[in-house]
Amino acid sequence: AENIAVALDGPGGSGKSTIAKMLAKRLGSIYLDTGAMYRTFALKVLRSGLNKSDRSGILKILDETKVDVAFENGEQRMLLDGEDVTGLIREPDVTEWASFVASIPEVRLKLVELQREVSKRVSIVMDGRDIGTYVLPHAQYKFFLTASPEVRAKRRYDESLAKGMTVSYSEIYEALAARDAQDSGRDFAPLRQAEDAILIDTGMLTPGEVMETILRHMNR
Ligand code: C5P
Repeated sequence: AENIAVALDGPGGSGKSTIAKMLAKRLGSIYLDTGAMYRTFALKVLRSGLNKSDRSGILKILDETKVDVAFENGEQRMLLDGEDVTGLIREPDVTEWASFVASIPEVRLKLVELQREVSKRVSIVMDGRDIGTYVLPHAQYKFFLTASPEVRAKRRYDESLAKGMTVSYSEIYEALAARDAQDSGRDFAPLRQAEDAILIDTGMLTPGEVMETILRHMNR
């Protein structure tokens, strides 16, 4: 059968990764989390101790860095210069730096190349910010998930509590809002709904209901 590509975009906390995982399982395809790639490079820059203003320093690191993805038992692992950093890239400071490095066009070009490479030979559900608009403009299916900032922050807050992290709702809300602004406001491949993407507000829906909506649009 022909390889299919599903682009799933939206802001943080919109439910993308939950839905992408479920959908990939259902379709028997690979799930590629593209945010993990920006997070992986961000970890490298963070470790280097560079300032955000040191653009040439960051570009030099980009040149010397190998970001790779591997799939182990269907689970995506992130490799930074060969080191498995999958567990390290969810820290809040990495999250904040990910959004910053993602605003640098050279960083995006390098990681988009990797994303397109992975998507070539397999059926894929890819989640991110610019998949429908830039990475896979010809994807057969495109969805843009959204929810109010309050709902999204509450989801992140509940996830953090479940992981045993001590954070306040307002901290999470502020960090999410800052990331939304940075991701939507950048010049190169910003967070935006593709014209041919189907918009789904997940605020009042369960993951199962979002899945049903998506499968209905895909005629499956
Ligand atoms: O999806 P996730 O929250 O893991 O993404 C982390 C950051 O990576 C986002 O805030 C965004 O700045 C960046 N990103 C991006 N384009 C993508 C995926 C993620 O710019 N396709």
